[in-house]
Amino acid sequence: MCCRGKTRYDGGGDLPIEVTGLSHIGIAVPDLAAAATVFRERFSCKVSEPIDVPAQKVRIVYVDLGNARLELIAPLGVDSPLAKFLEKRPEGGLHHVALAVADADDAAAAAKADGLRILGSGAPAAGHHGRPLFFLDPRALLGTLTEIEQAPRAGDPPPSH
Ligand code: CO
Repeated sequence: MCCRGKTRYDGGGDLPIEVTGLSHIGIAVPDLAAAATVFRERFSCKVSEPIDVPAQKVRIVYVDLGNARLELIAPLGVDSPLAKFLEKRPEGGLHHVALAVADADDAAAAAKADGLRILGSGAPAAGHHGRPLFFLDPRALLGTLTEIEQAPRAGDPPPSH
């Protein structure tokens, strides 16, 4: 919706990635419990229980902001890719922006047609919530790691957490 008539950084594709909203903003944190407490107590936000995501070697907590969420992310294990991020920024920091789309496969096809590289396997994969998502190479997108996440649909299985 917001991105019809989008700005193209690489050109080539005819299909836009149709973003329907902001899903969440991912912030890397060194201490998940401490960060959750800050948002629960200082900002009076609703904060989820911690969710382990072994596939990405991270543990996350969602902070409900009303119109969007923060995803606080901490490493799960010493070989987590996030541990490297925190080595460079021990205090934590902005890690990724997650945009919602109606259909992750359509968005992936549009991204590829536009020359945007999908990280990892190169295709959408199910997130911990069961919905497909993928990450775009930040080098082609304002230097910002961008997650494209399929929004919940009627009839989706309930999340496992
Ligand atoms: Co995310």
